[in-house]
Amino acid sequence: MGEVIEAGLLEGVASTTVKKLHKAGLVTLESIAVTPPRDIVELTGMGIDTAVKVNALARMKVDPGFVSASDMLEMRKHKLRCRTGSNELNRILGGGLETGVITELIGEFGSGKTQICYTLSVLAQRPVEEGGLGGRVCVIDTEGTFLPERVVQIAEARGYDTQEILSNILIARAYNSDHQVLLIKNLPQVAQEHDVKLVIVDSMIGHFRGEYIGRATLAERQQKLASALGNLLRVAEAFNLSVVLTNQVQAKPDTAYGDPNKPTGGHVMAHACTHRMYLRKGRQNTRLARIIDSPYLPEEKIRIAITEAGVTDEDGTFPEWDDDSPIQEKE
Ligand code: GTP
Ligand code: MG
Repeated sequence: MGEVIEAGLLEGVASTTVKKLHKAGLVTLESIAVTPPRDIVELTGMGIDTAVKVNALARMKVDPGFVSASDMLEMRKHKLRCRTGSNELNRILGGGLETGVITELIGEFGSGKTQICYTLSVLAQRPVEEGGLGGRVCVIDTEGTFLPERVVQIAEARGYDTQEILSNILIARAYNSDHQVLLIKNLPQVAQEHDVKLVIVDSMIGHFRGEYIGRATLAERQQKLASALGNLLRVAEAFNLSVVLTNQVQAKPDTAYGDPNKPTGGHVMAHACTHRMYLRKGRQNTRLARIIDSPYLPEEKIRIAITEAGVTDEDGTFPEWDDDSPIQEKE
C-alpha cells in the first residue's frame, strides 16, 4: 500500500539516501513516516540527522498535523471492523475489531485469549463485504502456542479453503523481549510488502515480565514496552490495520469484574490500548467477556463459547457473513 517514493519526491533529500531507504524496504512515505529515526539509522546505516530529516518530511507528507473535524470524520468512515466469530462479541465491540487502534485481550490462563486470536486470524482474511479486513495476518508468537493445526480446524469448521487461509498467516516466534521489539520495529515493511490487515502479539507482556524482575528494572521495562506499543500504534494508524495484544493476569477466584487483578503493563499498556477486553472462564466451554475502560464502548458482560469453529456465540452458532449483525458501512 502507499505511493512508492521516487528520488526527488522528498525535496532536499539526496537520491543516494532514497536508494538506502529503498534497500532497507522503506519504499513508501507511510513506512518512512512510521519508522522512528533511530530505527531508520539501524536499518539503512545513514546518519541520524538525515534519518530525522527524512522521517520528518515523510511524516509531514503523510500527516500534516492538524486536520479538520470533517476530514477526521471522513477518515473514521474508512475504519473497518473485523468480525470476531461471535455476534455478541461483535456487538459489544461496536461491530467487530476496529482498525487503526490496539485492542487488548486480558485474562487468566485458559480464558480464551489465544482462541480469539486464532479465530480472528481466519476471519480477518475474509473480504470487507463479508465482515473481514481483506488482508493478510501477521502473528508475533512469544509463547510458541500458535499452532497451524488449530487454524485449519477453525477454517474447516467455517467452510473456508484451509490452504489459502494458512498461506496468508505470517508467524514469527519471538524468543525474548529484544527479539519481540525488533519484530515489531520491522512491521511497517512487513505490513506494506504483504498487505497485512491484522497484527497479533500473543503475548505482549510475557517476555517483559519474565526478564525484568524487581523494582529496579521496572522503569527500563516500561520504557521499552512503551516504545514498542508506540510502534504498534503507528503501524495500526498508518496502514489502517487492527492490532490485537494479549495480556495474562492471575484471576483472584472471588473477585467480580469490578476489581480484576490489575493487568500487567500498568498505565503504559492502559494508555496505548484503545479497547481492553476482560475474559473469564465460565461454565463448560463458555467464557465471559467484557470491555473495560473503553472511550465509547459499553461495559456489558456477554457470554461466548469456544468450539471447534473457534470463538462462537454461547450456543455454538456463528454468524454467516450475510446475516444482519452489524458490519461496517459499505462504500
Ligand atoms: P494462556 O495463553 O495460558 O494465558 O491462556 P489463553 O487465554 O490464551 O487460553 P486459550 O485461548 O488457549 O484457551 C484454552 C482453552 O480453549 C482450553 O482450555 C480449551 O478449553 C479451549 N480449547 C482449545 N482448543 C479447543 C478446541 O479445539 N475445541 C474446544 N471446544 N475448545 C478448545
Ligand atoms: Mg494463550
